[in-house]
Amino acid sequence: MDITVIGTGYVGLVSGTCFAEMGHDVTCVDVDEEKVAQLSDGEIPIYEPDLDRYFERARAEDRLRFTTDLAEGIAGSKIVFFALPTPPGEDGSADLSYVLDAAGDVADLLVEADDPEHRIVVNKSTVPVGTGDRVEEAFADRGLDIGGEVDVVSNPEFLREGSAVDDFLKPDRVVIGTESDRAAETMKRLYEPFVRQGNPVLVVDRRSAEMIKYAANSLLATRISFMNEIANVCERVGANVDKVRLGISKDHRIGPHFLYAGIGFGGSCFPKDVQALARKGREKGYDFQILDAVLDVNDQQRRRLAEQVEDYFDGDLDGRRIAVWGLSFKPGTDDTREAPSHVIIDYLLERGADVVGYDPEAIETTKETFGDQIAYADGMYEAVEGAESLLICTEWHEFRRPDLGAVREHLENPLVLDGRNLYDPARMAEMGFEYHSIGRPSYAPETNQEAIEAAIVENGQP
Ligand SMILES: NC(=O)c1ccc[n+]([C@@H]2O[C@H](COP(=O)([O-])OP(=O)(O)OC[C@H]3O[C@@H](n4cnc5c(N)ncnc54)[C@H](O)[C@@H]3O)[C@@H](O)[C@H]2O)c1
Repeated sequence: MDITVIGTGYVGLVSGTCFAEMGHDVTCVDVDEEKVAQLSDGEIPIYEPDLDRYFERARAEDRLRFTTDLAEGIAGSKIVFFALPTPPGEDGSADLSYVLDAAGDVADLLVEADDPEHRIVVNKSTVPVGTGDRVEEAFADRGLDIGGEVDVVSNPEFLREGSAVDDFLKPDRVVIGTESDRAAETMKRLYEPFVRQGNPVLVVDRRSAEMIKYAANSLLATRISFMNEIANVCERVGANVDKVRLGISKDHRIGPHFLYAGIGFGGSCFPKDVQALARKGREKGYDFQILDAVLDVNDQQRRRLAEQVEDYFDGDLDGRRIAVWGLSFKPGTDDTREAPSHVIIDYLLERGADVVGYDPEAIETTKETFGDQIAYADGMYEAVEGAESLLICTEWHEFRRPDLGAVREHLENPLVLDGRNLYDPARMAEMGFEYHSIGRPSYAPETNQEAIEAAIVENGQP
Protein backbone atom coordinates (compact mmCIF):
# COMPACT_ATOMS: atom_id res chain seq x y z
CA MET A 1 0.00 0.00 0.00
CA ASP A 2 1.20 3.55 -0.70
CA ILE A 3 1.46 5.50 2.54
CA THR A 4 2.36 9.10 3.28
CA VAL A 5 3.59 10.30 6.64
CA ILE A 6 3.53 14.05 7.15
CA GLY A 7 5.99 15.13 9.84
CA THR A 8 9.26 13.23 10.14
CA GLY A 9 10.11 13.62 13.81
CA TYR A 10 10.31 10.90 16.46
CA VAL A 11 6.86 9.53 15.64
CA GLY A 12 6.75 10.13 11.89
CA LEU A 13 10.19 8.73 11.11
CA VAL A 14 9.70 5.63 13.25
CA SER A 15 6.18 5.02 11.87
CA GLY A 16 7.29 5.52 8.28
CA THR A 17 10.29 3.25 8.68
CA CYS A 18 8.27 0.51 10.37
CA PHE A 19 5.50 0.62 7.75
CA ALA A 20 8.20 0.32 5.09
CA GLU A 21 9.68 -2.64 6.99
CA MET A 22 6.34 -4.39 6.54
CA GLY A 23 6.58 -3.93 2.77
CA HIS A 24 4.62 -0.72 2.19
CA ASP A 25 5.80 2.12 -0.02
CA VAL A 26 6.23 5.09 2.27
CA THR A 27 6.83 8.73 1.48
CA CYS A 28 7.67 10.99 4.40
CA VAL A 29 7.01 14.70 4.04
CA ASP A 30 8.58 17.39 6.18
CA VAL A 31 8.89 21.17 5.93
CA ASP A 32 12.39 21.06 7.39
CA GLU A 33 14.58 21.08 4.28
CA GLU A 34 17.77 20.24 6.12
CA LYS A 35 16.15 17.24 7.78
CA VAL A 36 14.77 15.95 4.48
CA ALA A 37 18.17 16.39 2.80
CA GLN A 38 19.85 14.51 5.64
CA LEU A 39 17.32 11.67 5.53
CA SER A 40 17.52 11.45 1.75
CA ASP A 41 21.29 11.08 2.15
CA GLY A 42 20.76 8.19 4.54
CA GLU A 43 21.49 10.11 7.73
CA ILE A 44 19.15 9.77 10.71
CA PRO A 45 18.85 13.05 12.62
CA ILE A 46 17.69 11.50 15.92
CA TYR A 47 19.02 8.79 18.18
CA GLU A 48 16.64 5.87 18.54
CA PRO A 49 17.88 2.30 19.14
CA ASP A 50 17.55 -0.05 16.11
CA LEU A 51 16.10 2.62 13.86
CA ASP A 52 19.18 2.64 11.60
CA ARG A 53 18.85 -1.08 10.77
CA TYR A 54 15.26 -0.82 9.51
CA PHE A 55 15.83 2.60 7.94
CA GLU A 56 18.78 1.36 5.90
CA ARG A 57 16.93 -1.75 4.74
CA ALA A 58 13.84 0.20 3.70
CA ARG A 59 15.93 2.73 1.80
CA ALA A 60 18.04 0.08 0.13
CA GLU A 61 14.84 -1.52 -1.15
CA ASP A 62 13.48 1.90 -2.19
CA ARG A 63 10.42 1.67 0.04
CA LEU A 64 11.16 4.82 2.07
CA ARG A 65 11.47 8.24 0.48
CA PHE A 66 11.62 11.79 1.78
CA THR A 67 10.40 15.03 0.29
CA THR A 68 9.45 18.57 1.19
CA ASP A 69 6.87 18.63 -1.59
CA LEU A 70 3.47 17.78 -0.17
CA ALA A 71 1.85 17.30 -3.60
CA GLU A 72 4.52 14.77 -4.54
CA GLY A 73 4.24 13.19 -1.10
CA ILE A 74 0.54 12.44 -1.24
CA ALA A 75 0.26 11.58 -4.94
CA GLY A 76 -1.25 8.10 -5.25
CA SER A 77 -1.24 7.54 -1.52
CA LYS A 78 -4.02 5.49 0.05
CA ILE A 79 -3.35 6.52 3.64
CA VAL A 80 -2.01 9.90 4.76
CA PHE A 81 -0.74 10.06 8.34
CA PHE A 82 -0.26 13.25 10.31
CA ALA A 83 2.66 12.92 12.75
CA LEU A 84 2.87 16.64 13.37
CA PRO A 85 3.75 18.60 16.48
CA THR A 86 0.98 19.58 18.90
CA PRO A 87 2.97 21.74 21.34
CA PRO A 88 1.33 23.51 24.25
CA GLY A 89 -0.09 26.92 23.44
CA GLU A 90 0.27 29.80 25.88
CA ASP A 91 -2.81 28.76 27.86
CA GLY A 92 -1.72 25.10 28.08
CA SER A 93 -4.13 23.86 25.42
CA ALA A 94 -2.66 21.93 22.47
CA ASP A 95 -1.64 24.10 19.53
CA LEU A 96 -3.48 22.49 16.63
CA SER A 97 -2.26 24.83 13.93
CA TYR A 98 0.23 22.30 12.47
CA VAL A 99 -2.43 19.63 12.13
CA LEU A 100 -5.22 21.90 10.88
CA ASP A 101 -2.96 23.72 8.41
CA ALA A 102 -1.71 20.42 7.02
CA ALA A 103 -5.31 19.16 6.75
CA GLY A 104 -6.22 22.28 4.75
CA ASP A 105 -3.18 21.86 2.48
CA VAL A 106 -3.91 18.18 1.83
CA ALA A 107 -7.58 18.97 1.16
CA ASP A 108 -6.61 21.71 -1.35
CA LEU A 109 -4.30 19.32 -3.15
CA LEU A 110 -6.95 16.61 -3.33
CA VAL A 111 -9.43 19.08 -4.80
CA GLU A 112 -6.82 20.20 -7.31
CA ALA A 113 -5.92 16.63 -8.26
CA ASP A 114 -9.62 15.86 -8.81
CA ASP A 115 -8.88 12.22 -8.17
CA PRO A 116 -11.92 10.26 -6.91
CA GLU A 117 -9.87 7.53 -5.17
CA HIS A 118 -10.88 6.92 -1.55
CA ARG A 119 -8.23 8.12 0.94
CA ILE A 120 -7.84 7.77 4.62
CA VAL A 121 -6.42 10.70 6.54
CA VAL A 122 -5.08 9.47 9.85
CA ASN A 123 -4.17 11.58 12.81
CA LYS A 124 -1.28 10.09 14.78
CA SER A 125 -0.46 13.32 16.59
CA THR A 126 -1.79 13.57 20.13
CA VAL A 127 -4.78 15.87 19.84
CA PRO A 128 -7.65 16.90 22.08
CA VAL A 129 -11.02 15.25 21.68
CA GLY A 130 -12.90 16.76 18.77
CA THR A 131 -9.83 17.53 16.63
CA GLY A 132 -10.80 14.76 14.18
CA ASP A 133 -14.08 16.61 13.61
CA ARG A 134 -12.17 19.79 12.80
CA VAL A 135 -9.87 17.94 10.39
CA GLU A 136 -12.93 16.41 8.74
CA GLU A 137 -14.45 19.89 8.36
CA ALA A 138 -11.34 21.03 6.48
CA PHE A 139 -12.11 18.39 3.85
CA ALA A 140 -15.89 18.83 3.86
CA ASP A 141 -15.57 22.63 3.56
CA ARG A 142 -13.69 22.14 0.30
CA GLY A 143 -16.47 19.98 -1.08
CA LEU A 144 -14.81 16.60 -0.61
CA ASP A 145 -17.18 13.75 0.10
CA ILE A 146 -16.63 12.44 3.63
CA GLY A 147 -17.03 8.69 3.59
CA GLY A 148 -16.78 8.64 -0.21
CA GLU A 149 -13.54 10.38 -1.07
CA VAL A 150 -12.08 10.88 2.40
CA ASP A 151 -12.33 9.28 5.82
CA VAL A 152 -10.68 10.93 8.81
CA VAL A 153 -9.39 8.46 11.40
CA SER A 154 -7.74 8.84 14.78
CA ASN A 155 -4.86 6.44 15.42
CA PRO A 156 -3.03 7.63 18.53
CA GLU A 157 0.57 6.55 18.92
CA PHE A 158 1.85 4.96 22.13
CA LEU A 159 5.52 4.41 21.29
CA ARG A 160 8.09 5.40 23.89
CA GLU A 161 11.24 7.20 22.90
CA GLY A 162 14.20 4.97 23.67
CA SER A 163 12.28 1.86 22.55
CA ALA A 164 10.19 3.42 19.81
CA VAL A 165 10.97 0.91 17.07
CA ASP A 166 10.25 -2.08 19.26
CA ASP A 167 7.07 -0.47 20.57
CA PHE A 168 5.89 0.31 17.06
CA LEU A 169 6.64 -3.15 15.71
CA LYS A 170 5.00 -4.87 18.69
CA PRO A 171 2.36 -2.52 20.11
CA ASP A 172 0.43 -3.55 23.25
CA ARG A 173 -2.65 -2.49 21.31
CA VAL A 174 -3.57 -0.47 18.28
CA VAL A 175 -6.38 2.03 18.65
CA ILE A 176 -8.37 3.04 15.59
CA GLY A 177 -11.00 5.72 15.96
CA THR A 178 -13.51 5.80 13.15
CA GLU A 179 -17.18 5.24 12.44
CA SER A 180 -16.40 4.14 8.88
CA ASP A 181 -16.35 0.36 8.32
CA ARG A 182 -14.34 0.78 5.16
CA ALA A 183 -11.64 2.84 6.86
CA ALA A 184 -11.59 0.48 9.85
CA GLU A 185 -11.06 -2.56 7.58
CA THR A 186 -8.14 -0.90 5.73
CA MET A 187 -6.54 0.21 8.99
CA LYS A 188 -6.90 -3.26 10.50
CA ARG A 189 -5.22 -4.76 7.43
CA LEU A 190 -2.41 -2.25 7.73
CA TYR A 191 -1.73 -3.17 11.34
CA GLU A 192 -2.24 -6.95 11.01
CA PRO A 193 1.50 -7.73 10.69
CA PHE A 194 2.21 -5.74 13.87
CA VAL A 195 -0.18 -7.74 16.08
CA ARG A 196 0.51 -11.28 15.00
CA GLN A 197 1.04 -12.29 18.62
CA GLY A 198 -2.60 -11.53 19.34
CA ASN A 199 -2.50 -8.02 20.75
CA PRO A 200 -5.77 -6.27 20.03
CA VAL A 201 -6.66 -3.76 17.35
CA LEU A 202 -9.42 -1.78 19.02
CA VAL A 203 -11.85 0.00 16.75
CA VAL A 204 -13.70 2.69 18.65
CA ASP A 205 -15.40 5.96 17.83
CA ARG A 206 -13.02 8.78 16.94
CA ARG A 207 -13.58 10.84 20.07
CA SER A 208 -12.90 7.88 22.37
CA ALA A 209 -9.69 7.13 20.46
CA GLU A 210 -8.50 10.68 21.00
CA MET A 211 -9.39 10.45 24.68
CA ILE A 212 -7.62 7.08 25.15
CA LYS A 213 -4.25 8.68 24.41
CA TYR A 214 -4.73 11.51 26.89
CA ALA A 215 -6.11 9.19 29.54
CA ALA A 216 -3.15 6.81 29.15
CA ASN A 217 -0.49 9.52 29.39
CA SER A 218 -2.25 11.29 32.24
CA LEU A 219 -2.58 8.09 34.25
CA LEU A 220 1.11 7.24 33.76
CA ALA A 221 2.13 10.77 34.76
CA THR A 222 -0.14 10.48 37.81
CA ARG A 223 1.61 7.29 38.90
CA ILE A 224 4.97 9.05 38.65
CA SER A 225 3.89 12.08 40.67
CA PHE A 226 2.14 9.83 43.19
CA MET A 227 5.31 7.78 43.75
CA ASN A 228 7.38 10.94 44.03
CA GLU A 229 5.09 12.13 46.80
CA ILE A 230 5.29 8.74 48.51
CA ALA A 231 9.10 9.09 48.28
CA ASN A 232 9.01 12.55 49.81
CA VAL A 233 6.98 11.21 52.74
CA CYS A 234 9.27 8.14 53.05
CA GLU A 235 12.20 10.49 53.63
CA ARG A 236 10.34 12.20 56.44
CA VAL A 237 9.19 9.02 58.19
CA GLY A 238 12.33 6.90 57.73
CA ALA A 239 10.90 4.48 55.14
CA ASN A 240 12.57 3.39 51.89
CA VAL A 241 10.60 4.03 48.70
CA ASP A 242 12.35 1.23 46.80
CA LYS A 243 11.05 -1.28 49.32
CA VAL A 244 7.63 0.33 49.31
CA ARG A 245 7.59 0.08 45.52
CA LEU A 246 8.41 -3.63 45.61
CA GLY A 247 5.73 -4.21 48.21
CA ILE A 248 2.99 -2.54 46.22
CA SER A 249 4.09 -3.67 42.76
CA LYS A 250 3.42 -7.31 43.62
CA ASP A 251 -0.25 -6.46 44.03
CA HIS A 252 -1.68 -7.47 40.66
CA ARG A 253 -4.17 -4.61 40.81
CA ILE A 254 -1.22 -2.21 40.82
CA GLY A 255 1.53 -3.94 38.82
CA PRO A 256 5.20 -2.99 38.57
CA HIS A 257 5.29 -0.21 35.95
CA PHE A 258 5.79 3.51 36.42
CA LEU A 259 6.40 3.23 40.14
CA TYR A 260 9.98 4.47 40.27
CA ALA A 261 10.54 7.59 42.33
CA GLY A 262 12.83 10.15 40.76
CA ILE A 263 13.13 13.76 39.74
CA GLY A 264 9.91 13.96 37.77
CA PHE A 265 8.79 13.35 34.24
CA GLY A 266 9.79 15.29 31.15
CA GLY A 267 9.78 14.72 27.42
CA SER A 268 7.62 16.12 24.70
CA CYS A 269 4.49 14.23 25.77
CA PHE A 270 3.60 13.87 29.45
CA PRO A 271 3.88 17.51 30.53
CA LYS A 272 2.01 18.87 27.52
CA ASP A 273 -0.61 16.11 27.37
CA VAL A 274 -1.49 16.36 31.06
CA GLN A 275 -1.74 20.11 30.69
CA ALA A 276 -3.88 19.84 27.57
CA LEU A 277 -6.32 17.40 29.20
CA ALA A 278 -6.64 19.61 32.28
CA ARG A 279 -7.24 22.55 29.98
CA LYS A 280 -9.82 20.68 27.91
CA GLY A 281 -11.69 19.77 31.09
CA ARG A 282 -11.72 23.41 32.17
CA GLU A 283 -12.91 24.52 28.75
CA LYS A 284 -15.86 22.18 29.22
CA GLY A 285 -16.56 23.42 32.74
CA TYR A 286 -14.79 20.58 34.55
CA ASP A 287 -11.97 21.17 37.00
CA PHE A 288 -9.67 18.14 36.64
CA GLN A 289 -8.06 18.59 40.05
CA ILE A 290 -5.80 15.54 40.09
CA LEU A 291 -4.01 16.67 36.93
CA ASP A 292 -3.21 20.10 38.37
CA ALA A 293 -1.63 18.37 41.36
CA VAL A 294 0.29 15.97 39.11
CA LEU A 295 1.86 18.94 37.33
CA ASP A 296 2.57 20.90 40.53
CA VAL A 297 4.28 17.91 42.13
CA ASN A 298 6.30 17.40 38.97
CA ASP A 299 7.46 21.02 38.86
CA GLN A 300 8.58 20.77 42.47
CA GLN A 301 10.30 17.42 41.93
CA ARG A 302 12.21 18.60 38.87
CA ARG A 303 13.79 21.44 40.87
CA ARG A 304 14.69 19.21 43.76
CA LEU A 305 18.35 18.37 43.10
CA ALA A 306 19.11 22.00 42.30
CA GLU A 307 17.51 23.17 45.53
CA GLN A 308 19.33 20.48 47.48
CA VAL A 309 22.73 21.48 46.16
CA GLU A 310 21.92 25.12 46.83
CA ASP A 311 20.99 24.30 50.45
CA TYR A 312 24.16 22.26 50.88
CA PHE A 313 26.25 25.30 49.92
CA ASP A 314 24.14 27.63 52.07
CA GLY A 315 22.66 29.39 49.06
CA ASP A 316 26.03 30.19 47.49
CA LEU A 317 26.48 28.47 44.13
CA ASP A 318 28.37 31.31 42.52
CA GLY A 319 31.39 29.99 40.60
CA ARG A 320 30.97 26.46 41.92
CA ARG A 321 31.60 23.70 39.44
CA ILE A 322 28.64 21.29 39.38
CA ALA A 323 28.66 18.13 37.25
CA VAL A 324 25.45 16.82 35.72
CA TRP A 325 25.30 13.22 34.47
CA GLY A 326 22.41 12.60 32.10
CA LEU A 327 20.88 15.35 29.97
CA SER A 328 18.19 13.56 27.96
CA PHE A 329 14.76 13.34 29.57
CA LYS A 330 15.20 9.59 29.87
CA PRO A 331 17.77 6.98 28.83
CA GLY A 332 17.82 5.68 25.26
CA THR A 333 17.08 8.97 23.55
CA ASP A 334 18.78 12.24 22.66
CA ASP A 335 15.52 14.13 23.27
CA THR A 336 15.91 16.83 25.91
CA ARG A 337 12.49 18.46 25.61
CA GLU A 338 11.23 19.28 29.13
CA ALA A 339 14.08 17.22 30.59
CA PRO A 340 14.49 17.53 34.38
CA SER A 341 18.22 18.08 33.75
CA HIS A 342 17.43 21.24 31.83
CA VAL A 343 15.21 22.61 34.59
CA ILE A 344 18.07 21.93 37.01
CA ILE A 345 20.72 23.49 34.77
CA ASP A 346 18.57 26.61 34.31
CA TYR A 347 18.29 26.92 38.08
CA LEU A 348 22.02 26.46 38.63
CA LEU A 349 22.99 28.93 35.91
CA GLU A 350 20.69 31.57 37.36
CA ARG A 351 22.65 31.24 40.61
CA GLY A 352 26.01 31.59 38.92
CA ALA A 353 27.17 27.95 39.04
CA ASP A 354 29.64 26.56 36.48
CA VAL A 355 27.84 23.57 35.05
CA VAL A 356 29.53 20.74 33.20
CA GLY A 357 27.23 18.24 31.54
CA TYR A 358 27.75 14.76 30.22
CA ASP A 359 25.38 12.46 28.34
CA PRO A 360 26.11 9.53 26.01
CA GLU A 361 23.70 10.83 23.32
CA ALA A 362 22.20 14.20 24.24
CA ILE A 363 25.14 16.63 24.16
CA GLU A 364 24.20 18.05 20.75
CA THR A 365 20.52 18.53 21.65
CA THR A 366 21.55 20.18 24.92
CA LYS A 367 23.86 22.54 23.04
CA GLU A 368 20.79 23.70 21.09
CA THR A 369 19.38 25.00 24.39
CA PHE A 370 22.40 26.05 26.44
CA GLY A 371 25.11 26.61 23.82
CA ASP A 372 28.31 27.67 25.60
CA GLN A 373 26.56 28.63 28.83
CA ILE A 374 27.67 25.27 30.18
CA ALA A 375 30.70 23.07 29.55
CA TYR A 376 30.38 19.62 27.99
CA ALA A 377 32.48 16.62 28.96
CA ASP A 378 33.46 13.75 26.66
CA GLY A 379 33.04 11.19 29.38
CA MET A 380 31.52 10.73 32.81
CA TYR A 381 34.84 10.90 34.70
CA GLU A 382 35.94 14.00 32.86
CA ALA A 383 32.64 15.63 33.91
CA VAL A 384 33.33 15.20 37.62
CA GLU A 385 36.96 16.36 37.46
CA GLY A 386 37.29 19.19 39.99
CA ALA A 387 33.51 19.42 40.55
CA GLU A 388 32.07 20.23 43.96
CA SER A 389 29.04 18.08 43.39
CA LEU A 390 27.65 15.44 41.03
CA LEU A 391 23.96 15.49 40.13
CA ILE A 392 22.56 12.39 38.41
CA CYS A 393 19.55 13.16 36.24
CA THR A 394 19.14 10.26 33.79
CA GLU A 395 19.64 6.56 34.45
CA TRP A 396 21.76 5.63 31.42
CA HIS A 397 23.24 2.13 31.78
CA GLU A 398 26.81 3.41 32.05
CA PHE A 399 25.93 5.37 35.20
CA ARG A 400 24.67 2.28 36.98
CA ARG A 401 28.07 0.70 37.65
CA PRO A 402 30.78 3.31 37.24
CA ASP A 403 34.12 3.13 39.01
CA LEU A 404 33.01 5.08 42.07
CA GLY A 405 36.56 5.09 43.39
CA ALA A 406 37.51 7.16 40.35
CA VAL A 407 34.48 9.41 40.86
CA ARG A 408 35.48 9.93 44.49
CA GLU A 409 39.00 10.80 43.42
CA HIS A 410 37.96 13.24 40.69
CA LEU A 411 35.37 15.12 42.73
CA GLU A 412 36.79 18.03 44.66
CA ASN A 413 33.98 17.67 47.16
CA PRO A 414 32.31 14.25 47.50
CA LEU A 415 28.67 15.32 47.25
CA VAL A 416 26.48 13.11 45.04
CA LEU A 417 22.79 13.87 44.55
CA ASP A 418 21.23 10.96 42.77
CA GLY A 419 17.86 11.67 41.16
CA ARG A 420 17.52 8.08 39.93
CA ASN A 421 18.41 5.94 42.97
CA LEU A 422 21.28 4.13 41.26
CA TYR A 423 23.53 3.27 44.21
CA ASP A 424 23.37 1.73 47.66
CA PRO A 425 23.24 4.62 50.17
CA ALA A 426 25.11 2.71 52.92
CA ARG A 427 28.00 1.77 50.63
CA MET A 428 28.22 5.28 49.25
CA ALA A 429 28.57 6.61 52.81
CA GLU A 430 31.29 4.00 53.55
CA MET A 431 33.19 5.31 50.55
CA GLY A 432 33.08 8.78 52.02
CA PHE A 433 30.40 10.25 49.78
CA GLU A 434 27.75 12.57 51.08
CA TYR A 435 25.05 10.80 49.11
CA HIS A 436 21.38 11.66 48.85
CA SER A 437 18.83 9.90 46.67
CA ILE A 438 15.05 10.02 46.38
CA GLY A 439 12.88 8.57 49.14
CA ARG A 440 15.67 6.51 50.72
CA PRO A 441 17.66 6.95 53.91
CA SER A 442 20.93 8.89 53.80
CA TYR A 443 23.91 7.96 56.01
CA ALA A 444 26.60 10.14 57.45
CA PRO A 445 29.70 9.84 55.25
CA GLU A 446 32.74 8.01 56.61
CA THR A 447 35.51 10.46 57.42
CA ASN A 448 38.38 8.14 58.28
CA GLN A 449 40.67 8.07 55.25
CA GLU A 450 41.86 4.49 55.78
CA ALA A 451 38.31 3.23 56.10
CA ILE A 452 37.36 5.12 52.95
CA GLU A 453 40.24 3.64 51.01
CA ALA A 454 39.34 0.13 52.19
CA ALA A 455 35.72 0.70 51.19
CA ILE A 456 36.79 1.97 47.77
CA VAL A 457 38.82 -1.19 47.19
CA GLU A 458 35.93 -3.35 48.35
CA ASN A 459 33.03 -1.40 46.83
CA GLY A 460 34.59 0.41 43.89
CA GLN A 461 31.59 -0.79 41.95
CA PRO A 462 28.69 -0.78 44.46
N1 LIG B 1 7.68 11.72 20.75
C1 LIG B 1 6.95 10.78 21.30
O1 LIG B 1 7.41 9.95 22.08
C2 LIG B 1 5.48 10.69 20.98
C3 LIG B 1 4.79 9.52 21.31
C4 LIG B 1 3.45 9.44 21.00
C5 LIG B 1 2.81 10.52 20.41
N2 LIG B 1 3.50 11.65 20.13
C6 LIG B 1 2.79 12.75 19.48
O2 LIG B 1 3.10 12.71 18.09
C7 LIG B 1 3.17 14.03 17.56
C8 LIG B 1 4.53 14.25 16.91
O3 LIG B 1 5.50 14.15 17.92
P1 LIG B 1 7.07 14.06 17.60
O4 LIG B 1 7.75 13.87 18.90
O5 LIG B 1 7.29 13.09 16.50
O6 LIG B 1 7.32 15.54 17.06
P2 LIG B 1 8.67 16.14 16.45
O7 LIG B 1 8.71 17.53 16.86
O8 LIG B 1 9.82 15.22 16.75
O9 LIG B 1 8.43 16.05 14.87
C9 LIG B 1 7.49 16.81 14.17
C10 LIG B 1 7.97 16.98 12.73
O10 LIG B 1 6.94 17.64 12.00
C11 LIG B 1 7.58 18.53 11.07
N3 LIG B 1 6.59 19.50 10.61
C12 LIG B 1 6.11 20.60 11.22
N4 LIG B 1 5.19 21.20 10.44
C13 LIG B 1 5.09 20.47 9.32
C14 LIG B 1 4.28 20.55 8.14
N5 LIG B 1 3.38 21.51 7.97
N6 LIG B 1 4.45 19.62 7.18
C15 LIG B 1 5.35 18.63 7.32
N7 LIG B 1 6.12 18.48 8.42
C16 LIG B 1 5.99 19.39 9.40
C17 LIG B 1 8.72 19.11 11.87
O11 LIG B 1 9.69 19.67 11.03
C18 LIG B 1 9.22 17.86 12.60
O12 LIG B 1 10.19 17.17 11.84
C19 LIG B 1 2.86 14.98 18.72
O13 LIG B 1 1.49 15.25 18.72
C20 LIG B 1 3.22 14.13 19.93
O14 LIG B 1 2.49 14.51 21.07
C21 LIG B 1 4.83 11.77 20.39
